[in-house]
Amino acid sequence: MPFSTRIYQSWRKIQREKYTQLWPRVSEHFRESFSVLDFGIGKAWFYEFLDEQGFGFARVVGVDNDQKMVEPRRDGVSYIITGDFHTPERFDSIIAFDSLHLARQPAGLEEMLKPGGTILATEPSRFRDSLSLLRQHPFTILDEGEIGETEEDFYTLSRKEQA
Ligand SMILES: C[S@@+](CC[C@H](N)C(=O)[O-])C[C@H]1O[C@@H](n2cnc3c(N)ncnc32)[C@H](O)[C@@H]1O
Repeated sequence: MPFSTRIYQSWRKIQREKYTQLWPRVSEHFRESFSVLDFGIGKAWFYEFLDEQGFGFARVVGVDNDQKMVEPRRDGVSYIITGDFHTPERFDSIIAFDSLHLARQPAGLEEMLKPGGTILATEPSRFRDSLSLLRQHPFTILDEGEIGETEEDFYTLSRKEQA
């Protein structure tokens, strides 16, 4: 079934189930001082969830290629609407929830990470091949596994090598 804004609108509860399972497993790798690039941020539900946990990042840049998907915009997120994102900025972490398979061309994201930076990505299990680039140089896997109840996802947390 093709992805659509209308379907996604009804997906909040399903995404939150995933965040709830994922965050306790990976939170030790994140700091509030981090700058974060969220690739395919959508409605920024993850940051709503983190806020409820009493956690917030110093800087969140939210990229999405669909203007409608990011409305209503969340305070504290710097939005960039484009389907071909490039920046000279280097982030402490990149987060991509269920977006890499839609973008088709996620290669190049690693260039936007600081050395030693991390990337956390999830995909519906049927699309988990989209995470394969996070298993290759320059990345080292820190953690991975299954999450989700209504929809089963696979997540990978990888670190970019220092040199
Ligand atoms: C399934 S939604 C997930 C949204 C959000 N990450 C979440 O956890 O709810 C996938 C998002 O990726 C966005 N997207 C698709 N292709 C993209 C691209 N080339 N660049 C940036 N965002 C893209 C879509 O517009 C959509 O908002």
